[in-house]
Amino acid sequence: MKFAVPRGTSDILPDAILLWEELESKARKICKSYGYREIRTPVYEDINLFKRSLGATTDIVNKQLLELASGKEEIGGFALRPEGTASIVRSYIENNLDKIEPLSKLFYIGPMFRGERPQKGRLRQFHQIGAEAIGPNSISAFLDAEIIALAMHLLKDFGVKNPKLKINSLGSKEDKANISSWLRVEFAKHKNDLCEDCQNRFERNVFRVLDCKKEGCRKIVALIVKNLPLSSESQNYFNGVQSALKSAGIVFEVSPYLVRGLDYYTHTVFEITAEEGQGSQDAVGAGGRYGGLALELGGTDNVGGVGFALGMERILSASGQTTGKPSSVDVFVIAMKEEYQPRGFLLLQQLRQAGISADMSFAIGSMKSQMGRADKTQARFTLILGEEEIKNNTVAVKDMQKSTQETIALGEIVEYFRKVL
Ligand code: HAM
Repeated sequence: MKFAVPRGTSDILPDAILLWEELESKARKICKSYGYREIRTPVYEDINLFKRSLGATTDIVNKQLLELASGKEEIGGFALRPEGTASIVRSYIENNLDKIEPLSKLFYIGPMFRGERPQKGRLRQFHQIGAEAIGPNSISAFLDAEIIALAMHLLKDFGVKNPKLKINSLGSKEDKANISSWLRVEFAKHKNDLCEDCQNRFERNVFRVLDCKKEGCRKIVALIVKNLPLSSESQNYFNGVQSALKSAGIVFEVSPYLVRGLDYYTHTVFEITAEEGQGSQDAVGAGGRYGGLALELGGTDNVGGVGFALGMERILSASGQTTGKPSSVDVFVIAMKEEYQPRGFLLLQQLRQAGISADMSFAIGSMKSQMGRADKTQARFTLILGEEEIKNNTVAVKDMQKSTQETIALGEIVEYFRKVL
């Protein structure tokens, strides 16, 4: 019986892994240079964590949570994480990070899971690089700007061309409640003209009508959205974020349509799109501020946060990268006969332990076929153990680039490679 990778997931094969490693190591370096430290949380959590934080009426919770099914009660009630923010805030509270530092700046890299209908750029298992700044001292327009600057910096270094940044403000928690009632009054005037989905959204979460992509709804939204009743404090905060972004030379567009599909956001929200290679799934990253999330998850009222997540698959596709250059070892060992293999294997281990990357052909074959294998590995040197070499306690070293060959005494081989590599 043959098995296939589950729909909406993919294998990342060794050639592509090089690109992923590059992305991850750049991400680690850049995040650290902004003062963020890595955090790793489990890939599954209590399902109620996601319900409480992302919002019971959101698509992610309603349609996409992948719940773990098990006959064992003690591992029931869990779901694979659809995103990272809820888990990070859970960990922040559980580990009392607020007692340790006034502001926790954290980043994470890892797989996320959403039971979506798979299509190009939309997967059931995908990977995010994200950062969150959480703490009692997190309310600063400059911190919002720092998070956005970090996301843009990463995308630029990953080779994403022309990323476009859109920002908006949803206001404080009180503003959101006011805006929600106000939107319901306004949309009620046009309710019959809204699409079927939006009629549903109107009942369940009226904010979601704002980002409907259907022409008819967009026209209605355009009439309404310009006059959202934001309090003057929230508007001032949003102005501050815009000034901070300008002061760092970050180009953005204010989009009143941007609302985001998760409930925890307050004040600043943003989304970054890239045209290239994306099709309809053009958001390479998104994020925003979340004022009340810590309180919602059992933390204190004064703890807030701001963060973002970038989709790694979408970054790779937007930067036009599919495979990296294949990696190879420095030295490839060939034993010409089975009885020479013990010496070959010993040499191999001596080289590796000296920090020299080395491999060997585990099958015995003709010189031609063994050299063919050495060629395929693209090793810089081939080390040959034939009858002469075994007799004289030497090895033949072939430089595959220069096509030269020399004989080296067995005891000097590690030193030899130390010098030439
Ligand atoms: P999100 O907008 O749901 O936000 O996801 C962030 C990014 O993850 C998206 O812009 C996209 O690049 C990628 N992504 C999301 N779903 C998929 C999918 N099914 N397939 C491939 N890529 C996908 C969040 O996850 C928030 N936690 C961001 C955040 C952090 N807000 C505050 N802090």
